[in-house]
Amino acid sequence: MNSEVDYSQLKIPTHVAIIVDGNGRWAVERGLSRLKGHDAGFDNLRNLVRYIMSRGVKVLSLYVFSTENFKRAKEEVGHLMDLFVLMYRRDLQIFMEDNIKVVFSGRDAPLPKSVIKARDEMAEATKNNTGGIVNFCLNYGGRAEIMDAVKKIVHASVDVDKLTDDDFRHYLYQDLPDIDLMIRTSGELRLSNFLLWQNSYAEFYFPKTKFPDFGAAEFDQAIIEYTSRDRRFGGNTKA
Ligand code: FPP
Repeated sequence: MNSEVDYSQLKIPTHVAIIVDGNGRWAVERGLSRLKGHDAGFDNLRNLVRYIMSRGVKVLSLYVFSTENFKRAKEEVGHLMDLFVLMYRRDLQIFMEDNIKVVFSGRDAPLPKSVIKARDEMAEATKNNTGGIVNFCLNYGGRAEIMDAVKKIVHASVDVDKLTDDDFRHYLYQDLPDIDLMIRTSGELRLSNFLLWQNSYAEFYFPKTKFPDFGAAEFDQAIIEYTSRDRRFGGNTKA
């Protein structure tokens, strides 16, 4: 993926998060099955991830399957599970070449054993990579993450009176910086239970483009828009 945009003039967010949405509608528009839409999204993902990380982003979180997505048709859920396993075979070498650490956020149950195995092997193989982090949110829910953190804190008998925001972060699925830029493709204007804690001060960007067509040029536009935003974090001076 190439770009005409001069990134030295732009602000680069440390943590970008993307809700990959619109695969199904992309396919239906073309008279294809929804599964073909997920294949097209999957094909787009590798180059897009490489492009985003090559622009200086340090952490990229991707919402690829929510806890609620298990309510979808069995065939669609099964197909997505197959893609997650395929990603391990297809992309591990690329993540190693690019020195990217891959982490996952989400609950185990009811993921199939094959997905848990591929997920854990990918995390283990890339754990010492230092060139950036890609966080796949797989079987993920924001409320579930906060609930799970609270349970860990209670079980660890933490002195809650001394607990700070920063301490709380350590109990989340992954200890990552706050999100700077949150993108949801396909024109939907919802957060859908995505990284509720981490999105507190994120800038939101909602392109109409459906995920399979969201490439380098669309990402450049998001960064141009992000650069123009005035981030005040509740105060009245610029960040
Ligand atoms: C939501 O929108 C998207 C998903 C539930 C799946 C996203 C999956 C991929 C991009 C491919 C696999 C990814 C990996 C990491 C292997 P939707 O596609 O249901 O869109 P719709 O709202 O148009 O139906």
